[in-house]
Amino acid sequence: MTPCRLVARVAVAAVALLSPLAARASDGRGADSVIAAATGDTIVIDLAHRGADVSPTMYGVFFEEINHAGDGGLYGELVANRSFEDGLLPDGFCVAEGGGSVAVAGRNHLTGEATRRDFPWPTDDVPGWRLVTADSRAARMTVTTDRPAFATAPRNLRLDLAAGDAPVALVNDGYWGIGIAGGEEYRLRVIARTDGLYRGTLRARLVAAAGRDLAAVALPLAAEGWGDTTVTLTACAADTAASLVLDFDGEGTIWLDFVSLFPRHTFRDRPNGMRRDVAQLIAALRPAFFRWPGGCVVEGITMATRYDWRKTLGDVAARSGEYVQWGYRTTYGMGWHEVLQFCEDIGAAAMYVCNAGIACQMRLGDACPDDSVAALIDDCLAAIEYALGDTTTYWGARRAAAGHAAPFPLRYVEVGNENWGETYNRRFPRFRDAIKARWPDVAVIYNVMWKPDSGPVPETDMADPHWYVAPDAFFRSHDTFDRWPRANHTLYVGEYACNKGVGSGNMYAALSEAAFVGGMERNGDLVRMASYAPLLENVNDRRWPVNLIRISAAGAYGRSSYHVQKMAAAHRPDYNVFVSLVADSVRRGTSGGDDTAWPRCPLQFVGAGYDTTVSELVLKVVNAASVPYVKEFRIDGAAAVGTSGRVVTLAAHSGTDENTPADPQRIAPVESVADGFGTTFRYAFAPFSYTILRVRASVAPR
Ligand code: AHR
Repeated sequence: MTPCRLVARVAVAAVALLSPLAARASDGRGADSVIAAATGDTIVIDLAHRGADVSPTMYGVFFEEINHAGDGGLYGELVANRSFEDGLLPDGFCVAEGGGSVAVAGRNHLTGEATRRDFPWPTDDVPGWRLVTADSRAARMTVTTDRPAFATAPRNLRLDLAAGDAPVALVNDGYWGIGIAGGEEYRLRVIARTDGLYRGTLRARLVAAAGRDLAAVALPLAAEGWGDTTVTLTACAADTAASLVLDFDGEGTIWLDFVSLFPRHTFRDRPNGMRRDVAQLIAALRPAFFRWPGGCVVEGITMATRYDWRKTLGDVAARSGEYVQWGYRTTYGMGWHEVLQFCEDIGAAAMYVCNAGIACQMRLGDACPDDSVAALIDDCLAAIEYALGDTTTYWGARRAAAGHAAPFPLRYVEVGNENWGETYNRRFPRFRDAIKARWPDVAVIYNVMWKPDSGPVPETDMADPHWYVAPDAFFRSHDTFDRWPRANHTLYVGEYACNKGVGSGNMYAALSEAAFVGGMERNGDLVRMASYAPLLENVNDRRWPVNLIRISAAGAYGRSSYHVQKMAAAHRPDYNVFVSLVADSVRRGTSGGDDTAWPRCPLQFVGAGYDTTVSELVLKVVNAASVPYVKEFRIDGAAAVGTSGRVVTLAAHSGTDENTPADPQRIAPVESVADGFGTTFRYAFAPFSYTILRVRASVAPR
């Protein structure tokens, strides 16, 4: 048993209690409020005073192809630029300029203003690939569209191999190195053709960073036309920064259309599946839903570059991919089918976000004409049909042909991402009505943006506001939802994170999110769903300042915010109960300490709920101060309260402490069993901590 901070069981003197009724909300909400003013040093929990139910769908995840979250992240592919399509200019109003940028122009549909934005652009001739040869005259590589294997992904790599005194190696270092597991099998698929004159061989190797061969295999080359070959390489040892090397030892010309390397063991061993360690981190969050494809990529830089779910189906070698505003081209390998399969595998409902006929309003903000909207509505209905339609429908049959006859668990559709204004408000009802007419059980979600021209929220199942803030904003906003007017729709907080002034994501960020999450839980009648954003980053391509899970070829780990999400979801009570003090501001302790970082903020937050399945009181306490938060608790409304309980503590040495690649578990939850609970008890919450206490308790009969 780990020593715990339950300091003593003390008899608590009678305290002057505010009447719980004093806290009853008067703003028309259904559930009683479970907050009241402070009652001195004792926090009173009243099990018999029930608050709002905590939504079973509260905790979900937001996925977007940002920071190489998919390619180089969750998606299992190990080869970068496998189709040689990177370097293809995105469609529509784009000009590649020197110095690694592409300029994109568009006209904002609300202001009429012509806008230009620059996006990162690769400077390499063939991104991801390099030729290594002892004789520089021995080989040349060029990207061509000669006799493409797939019209939808037309580019291929032409290798002109001259007589040289050494073999030529074509090398791919993957996404900042290829992580290889010892003993694992890797499936290499190569689509290639020759000029008919090439007389040499083709050999593939996995090579460790230090130069040692980890696996090698010979590949046949088709005598004519495109040959499509899959071979297996079994690695004899592990490496975190390996390369795939293709060796050519002859003279002639070879075209490569597609080179893909996958571990045999993806998550649940799905073909074209997800990387196991990353998928497991997501699954461990036990997300109620999985949102896809974003995020800004839904909208596109311009309408022409919006994420197109149809192009994500079928043979991966034929998928076009798309350049996204986060500065790289995605393969579309982790497509709609793979996402739906992943949702099913992790027990999450799928959420699809469709384009509302408006490109990213934070950037260029062009919009299609109104008479093109019907086609976009049909496109959205088709995406839903792909997931839910029976096999007599066109898209249901396509799904079945792809290996999944039964429907997938799609439950939500959001119309647009971060859209606002008159055009959006006019289009939203058209999408909503069409979706509801065909799929009445699918919940439809509207974007809430804090803009002067946002207009009123139209009829919708849910509305989606976003928050990206500094810690003090979340500390201060712990009661945002207590004050939020109830309307005829509920909320899905689709994106929120503390990402300002917190390094690359420190403990202050995590604690402020825990405070904000507590407010969402307490108002479960209003906030039905929430997803932290963004979910993933490859550490080598952080395009967004702070992200939940960090990935590299060497492994993946969660930031402290990840642990807050995981703890909150794993300890989600069924309903809230009365707490006499939900926010406190203890800044100094007997052991010293003086928190002046956010002088006017509360730094301690308390939430309480009841888990009916195991009959436990669940207490969630944030202490963002540098001193212990020592409190007495009195449990009212209980027939009995256990004397021992479970304690889960996430604590850091300081608010600026972070998990790092070198120390990924520096801030991680510690579980223990503690004695000394009862109808009264005292607890010292560690500095910079998020603590969950679970104690068996039976509710007193009324
Ligand atoms: O989560 C990162 C970005 O933040 C999303 O793409 C967008 O919706 C928001 O502005």
